Amino acid sequence: MNSTYGSVLWFTGLSGAGKTTTAQSVEKKLRERGRRVELLDGDELRATVCKGLGFSREDRIENVKRIAYIANLLSRNGVDVLVSAISPYKEMREYARQHIPNYVEVYVKCPLHVCEMRDVKGLYAKARSGEIQHFTGITDPYEEPENPELTLLTSTGALEQNVQAVLAYMEQAATSS
Ligand code: PPS
Ligand code: MG
Repeated sequence: MNSTYGSVLWFTGLSGAGKTTTAQSVEKKLRERGRRVELLDGDELRATVCKGLGFSREDRIENVKRIAYIANLLSRNGVDVLVSAISPYKEMREYARQHIPNYVEVYVKCPLHVCEMRDVKGLYAKARSGEIQHFTGITDPYEEPENPELTLLTSTGALEQNVQAVLAYMEQAATSS
């Protein structure tokens, strides 16, 4: 870990796995500890700097490149960055790993059938009916991370427990650098 840079915790996982919820909770804890922190969330960025991008492989890669660029700018100024974006392709996560010094991959792992049962935004139902195309896990791939720094189980692990695991990882990484 480069100690002048902030950490970039990259939460990857299926839609509805709990990326945003977990990242928001980590964000709150880091702020309470006096850290400067920013959350870059896929849904929010797609409404602003990534507006107009769809869900083809090319557009998703472009989306992730833009997010990685912003994450880098913040990180090099000492800000801890939490990214919550599906980032379904191994290639794009490798891109982020190579371009971001303090990249920490956090796999937010939840079985597809659980995400689909939750269907918080009703998107799985739309994907099944064909109303939405290229939907991750249904009609579009999700390549599971092979060597993430952290794996959080959101179907069995409690939110608080997962948040603590992230904070413990950050503390350990900071002391060993
Ligand atoms: S990616 O693959 O990293 O570029 O995706 P991301 O920027 O994280 O955007 C995912 C959010 O977009 C909504 N949504 C879809 N997700 C996946 N596939 C399709 N086709 C799709 N269409 C819309 C959805 O709200 C995702 O948010 P999360 O928080 O993951 O559920
Ligand atoms: Mg989300």
